[in-house]
Amino acid sequence: MTRKVVIDTDPGIDDAVAILFALASPAFDVLGITTVAGNIGLTTVTRNAGRILALAGRQDIPVIAGAAAPLARKGFDTAEIHGDDGLGGVSFPEPDPTAPLWEGAPRWIAETLLRHPFGSVDILALGPLTNIARLVREHPAAAGRIRRVIAMGGAIDERGNIGPRSEFNLAADPEAADIVLRAGLPLVLVPLDVTRKVRATRDYLALLRRSERPPARVSADLIDAYFQSTTGGESRPLHDPCVMLFAERPDLFGIERYPLSVDLGDGVDAGALIKDEGRGAPVDVAMRVDTAAALDLLAGRLAGR
Ligand code: BDR
Ligand code: CA
Repeated sequence: MTRKVVIDTDPGIDDAVAILFALASPAFDVLGITTVAGNIGLTTVTRNAGRILALAGRQDIPVIAGAAAPLARKGFDTAEIHGDDGLGGVSFPEPDPTAPLWEGAPRWIAETLLRHPFGSVDILALGPLTNIARLVREHPAAAGRIRRVIAMGGAIDERGNIGPRSEFNLAADPEAADIVLRAGLPLVLVPLDVTRKVRATRDYLALLRRSERPPARVSADLIDAYFQSTTGGESRPLHDPCVMLFAERPDLFGIERYPLSVDLGDGVDAGALIKDEGRGAPVDVAMRVDTAAALDLLAGRLAGR
C-alpha cells in the first residue's frame, strides 16, 4: 500500500540516502519536501533537497523552505561531518532554476493536511523539529489530522552524539522537541539506540556500487564521504534512513512506550530525553531492529528492487 508522506529534512548525507530510498520505494507517495536548518544552513539544505529530486528525476515534487533557525537558540554547524555543501562534496545535478521557490513550510504542511483526508498523511522528520513544532503551535487543527509523525531523534540508553546524553536533532532545537513530544500527536521516535545498529560497512558500499542505478551509486558516494569525515571506524550509522525503513516495514522494529520529557537547560545535555514517570509524555520509541533485513531492504530499494 502506498502512503502519502511529507519529508521534513536538513540534507545532510544520511538525509539524502533516506530521501533517495523514499523516492525509490513504491511504499511512498512523497507530497513534498520541507526543509529546516540543521546539518547546515537553510539555503544550502533547500538547494540540496532540489538537487536530490533532480538526481531522482522527481522535480514534480515541491521543495518548501522552512525554519532558518531553532525556536529559541543558536543552531549548530556540522560542516566537518556533512561537508561545506552538506552532501560531502558528492556531485548532484542542479535543480531546475525555473522551478517555483516555496517558503513557509509549516503553513504548506497545514494546507496539505487540510487538503487530504483526515489521518492519511505521515510526516517523516529527519532534522530538528522546528517546522513541526511551528505547525503544532500555529496550525493545531491541521496538525491534528496527521496520521503519524516518525522522527529520527534522541537517545534512550545509548550515549548521545552531541552531549553525553543528547542527540543532534533534538539538541539542535530542544524547545521544538518539547512541543512535539507534548502535542499528543501519534509519534514514533527513532533514536540512536536503533540507528546505530543499522550501519554501512565498506562491503555494503561495494554492494551498492554493483548496481547501475543512480540512487544506489550516489548513496555509496555519500556514505563514502561520511567515512572520510571520520577517522577510524569499520562502519557508519545510517540514522535517517531508519525513519523510512520504519515507515515501510514497522514489523522490522520493536517499539517501547516511555514517559519522556526533554532537557530544556543550557548544559551539555540540552535536548536530551529524560525518562520521567511523573511528567513525561507517553511516546512510542523504536528500540530494536532486525539489522540484516533493514539493510537488505535499503540496498534493494536503492538498486531498484
Ligand atoms: C541526526 O543528526 C544529523 O546530523 C543526521 O542527519 C541525523 O538526522 C543524527 O543524530
Ligand atoms: Ca538529518
